[in-house]
Amino acid sequence: MQLDADTEDALLRAALAARENAYAPYSGFRVGAAALDAEGRIHAGCNVENAAYPQSQCAEATALGAMVTAGAWTLQAIAVAGPDTDEEGPLLTPCGGCRQRIREFATASLPVLLCQPRGIVARRELAALLPESFGPGHLG
Ligand code: THU
Repeated sequence: MQLDADTEDALLRAALAARENAYAPYSGFRVGAAALDAEGRIHAGCNVENAAYPQSQCAEATALGAMVTAGAWTLQAIAVAGPDTDEEGPLLTPCGGCRQRIREFATASLPVLLCQPRGIVARRELAALLPESFGPGHLG
């Protein structure tokens, strides 16, 4: 699936804006996400940590919750924004649990934009992040 440059840019900006509001006092690791639904609407979210650490929520989960709350069940793309890293630094990719959360509303070819404040640094298809995934189809 190909996204046009304007759509990619809107997703980048929404993910970065959400990241500004991240509540990450424990890790200091701020993340924003922006989900593009089938109608072209963008739903953003940030990570929301908790003093009881396991209760923290990833940015992707917040964005997907906003999308479902707005009445949408189909993803067209998702952008995830973390901190700037140098060339050798590890790229922020969605955690394992969030890959599965994304899968619920997406097909294998879903574009996942990996973003930093300096821009979109990589593009992946969901299938590359979560091969041979389990999804709603398995339940009939
Ligand atoms: N985090 C996300 O929001 N998304 C990811 O895909 C990876 C990790 C958050 C969770 C926690 O608040 C912080 O980053 C450090 O793990």
